[in-house]
Amino acid sequence: MVDIIPYGRQCIDEDDVAAVIEVLKSKFITQGSKVQEFELALCQVTEAPFAVAVNSGTAALHIACLAAGIGPGDEVITSPNTFVASANCVVYCGGRPVFADINLQTYNISLQEIEKKINKRTKAIIPVHFAGQSCDMENIRAIVRASEKKYGHKIYIIEDACHALGSHYKETKVGSCVYSDMTVMSFHPVKHITTGEGGVVFTNDKELQRKLSCFRSHGITSDPDEFVYSENIFEKKSKDISIKKPWYYEQKELGYNYRITDIQCALGISQLKKLDKFQLRRRALVNRYHEIFSKCQSVSIPFEDDKCESNFHLYVLQFDFDFIGTSRAEVMERLKQKGIQTQVHYIPVYTQPFYRKNFGTNWKNCSNMEIYYKKCLSIPLWPGMTIEDQEQVGSAIYSLRPQS
Ligand SMILES: Cc1ncc(COP(=O)(O)O)c(C=O)c1O
Repeated sequence: MVDIIPYGRQCIDEDDVAAVIEVLKSKFITQGSKVQEFELALCQVTEAPFAVAVNSGTAALHIACLAAGIGPGDEVITSPNTFVASANCVVYCGGRPVFADINLQTYNISLQEIEKKINKRTKAIIPVHFAGQSCDMENIRAIVRASEKKYGHKIYIIEDACHALGSHYKETKVGSCVYSDMTVMSFHPVKHITTGEGGVVFTNDKELQRKLSCFRSHGITSDPDEFVYSENIFEKKSKDISIKKPWYYEQKELGYNYRITDIQCALGISQLKKLDKFQLRRRALVNRYHEIFSKCQSVSIPFEDDKCESNFHLYVLQFDFDFIGTSRAEVMERLKQKGIQTQVHYIPVYTQPFYRKNFGTNWKNCSNMEIYYKKCLSIPLWPGMTIEDQEQVGSAIYSLRPQS
């Protein structure tokens, strides 16, 4: 069996292991102090005003949509070039995802397509920062503001930044919510840092933070200021003396158990300390890939927008399979034989049977997405990769010569 170089994976060292063990030996393995510590560390790194950590990026997207009040009859515009979770979160709330085609240079949602799809039913937009490169947030916000004026209601901007921890847009850090109401990230093992499973919603709005925290934990609050029946807090001991009921809480909304554990947060805190190191390593590997493949006839390298600094979650090449004379499945198999795992990011979400059946979408809905999809293939990129691994990837791809 050949040892496979995966397309992405976590980098865990002894510090991370020690941090997790420390929590395992402590009093609280969940609902302890590590959660808030992780949230504060995330705010420091991203310059976000508030953070609510949860147990996956999908849970983060779900509570963000709930906090935005998405419900039946609402439309939410998102990209088809994403993992299904970016659209599923809208469906969980009873809303309708609307797919706007991508820009063929950045592979991110196209501004013109947003303008075509936005209408009086649009309640939110979820731009996805594909592979780590931010969407054009300033112009997305301008479109949203103009539409809010036209239709007379708030349209939320929820950034799906699951690929973009450590990335920048103009002068801002992704996650800071300078151009949005909320930003969501994931800490799945292939992402920039990991907590095993995990996610976060950042926001710049205290009221949204309150709602997000409530949805994270069953819709329950223990804050007396938020109680509906505040008279229930006290128990009469005698005619003049009342004592506070220490157990009293209220469930005000239908929430979920999306809590992240202290074990996961300890890993996250330890991993965050290495974000700069991971970022530098990814950048060096990306620069090298650019160099290796800029002269390769069978592939095109990813475009980098001047307004952005991407922390490359993925390195996606566009392959000219016609030129090579082989199908993508065959190329993936040949690379696998040479010890290299590749992956397709993404199948257009609107072509999934669930969306076709329930929302009437189909192939040909977004032509740019399909042009991109036919040729895309992500090759290995993660901070623990060695130069030798990278050489192996380079020479395997160069060896895919046109078949005669
Ligand atoms: C763009 C995007 N959004 C959302 C998610 C969902 O995150 P998680 O796997 O943490 O639930 C992912 C995960 O792969 C993703 O890539």
